[in-house]
Formats: sequence, C-alpha cells, structure tokens
Amino acid sequence: MRYGTGPEVLREVTFSLAPGSFHFLTGRSGAGKSSLLKLMYLAHRPSRGLITLFDEDIATAPRKRLPLLRRRVGVVFQEFRLLNHLSAFDNVALPLQVAGVRDSTVRKNVRELLNWTGLADHMKARPPTLSGGQQQRVAIARAIIAKPSLLLADEPTGNVDEAMGVRLLYLFEELNRMGTTVVIATHSEALISRFQHPVLHLEDGVLTTRQASAARGSSSDDAPSPSAAEAKP
Ligand SMILES: Nc1ncnc2c1ncn2[C@@H]1O[C@H](COP(=O)(O)OP(=O)(O)OP(=O)(O)O)[C@@H](O)[C@H]1O
Ligand SMILES: [Mg+2]
Repeated sequence: MRYGTGPEVLREVTFSLAPGSFHFLTGRSGAGKSSLLKLMYLAHRPSRGLITLFDEDIATAPRKRLPLLRRRVGVVFQEFRLLNHLSAFDNVALPLQVAGVRDSTVRKNVRELLNWTGLADHMKARPPTLSGGQQQRVAIARAIIAKPSLLLADEPTGNVDEAMGVRLLYLFEELNRMGTTVVIATHSEALISRFQHPVLHLEDGVLTTRQASAARGSSSDDAPSPSAAEAKP
C-alpha cells in the first residue's frame, strides 16, 4: 500500500484472520496501523498484492459489491467521524435503521448500549458538546450496535481512563464471543498484557504475528475469563 506516488507504507504484510478470532494490532506511531485498517474496511485498494475479505477477492470484486461487504464491517475510526448534527443516540441508531430494524428494537438496543458505555445522561447530546472520551464511546457503540462480522477499532481506548478502557475491552470480548472477528489497534501495553490475545505487529512496512504471551500463567481454554461475568451489557 502507498499513498499516491509516495513510498510503500505497507509492503510485506501476509496474514489471515480466522473467523471469530481476536487480535491486537501494534506498532509505533506512523507504522501503518490505520493504513492497514483502511485496506481492511475497503476504503483504500492495495497498490499490489491480494486481499480476500469474507471469501471474496477484493481486487476483482465488482465495485458495486463493495458497499455490501463494507456493511458487514464495524469501524471505530481513530478520529471518530461522528455525525455532528445528530444526537449521540441517533448516531448509534443509524446502522440499525439502515438495516431496517424496527423502531422499538432500535430504541431498546441503543439505550442498553449507551447505558453500558456510561453515556445514559448524554443520549441527546450532539458530539461537539461531548468530551473526547465520550465521543469515542459513541463511536464504539455505533460500530458494534449492528453486530458486524468484523470489527476494526483504531485506538478505541486512546481517550478514556484505564478503568473505562478495560470496560470497553470487555465489551469487545463479549461481541467476539457472539461471533464477531475483532482487530484492535492500540499503543497500550497494559491492555495487551491484561487481555491475552495474539498480536499483529507492524514495523517498517512489515507485519509479524505474535501469539498471546503467557503472562497470565498457563490459563487453559476452558478456564473462565475474568471478564466473562462482568461483560454482559
Ligand atoms: N492520507 C495520507 N497521505 C499520505 N501519507 C499518509 C496518509 N496517511 C498516512 N500516511 C503515511 O503513512 C504512514 C503510516 O501512517 P498510519 O496513519 O497508517 O500510521 P499509524 O500506525 O496508524 O500511526 P498512529 O499510531 O500515529 O495512528 C505514515 O508515514 C504516514 O505519514
Ligand atoms: Mg493510526
């Protein structure tokens, strides 16, 4: 991947995400995390190479297929990209309304999720009147409300305190348990070591993968996750 005639930002990137997997994406600032996510939500086509998303070859898929594929991907943008003329509630409701979900269900689901993310008192607020961390939580709620097949979150905890960051990770894990494949770009070593998931690491345009470290001891697969009890929204 390159921007215009610039240098290749990503050049040796080979990986595959199993459906239902959960990965962190790391790398120093400028390493290409947001760029890789752009390829994965089909906002940017690769200059060379191959991408297959939901078993479809992106390079040869007809352009009119892309919006349909994109609809299965939830994205938390690094810079939020909320609609400033809509309330927090309406921003989060939008993906469900687009999917044709009936109003009473939309209202119930949106309220529940905004409550869980600590925004109960801000449902009617427009994004410009919210703090950075509050806007970030609205962006997260919007990305996950329709239970996408793939969730891509770019620094989704960059503007909240540590406790809220952990709470949001529980939310992503809950979504993952329901079948969503999750990729979270983050600089937070604390989150990475607390939540044991494999890591995709970018450096000089090259991607390497690392299994979850054994920092938590030999937790076997059937050991209950410490998040499980708390994670029910
Ligand atoms: N729109 C753009 N046009 C030209 N170059 C860009 C553009 N966006 C990013 N770049 C360049 O691509 C490289 C990777 O940027 P990217 O935003 O993907 O990094 P990142 O890992 O997400 O960084 P951060 O942790 O700061 O968010 C950088 O060298 C950056 O300057
Ligand atoms: Mg970035």
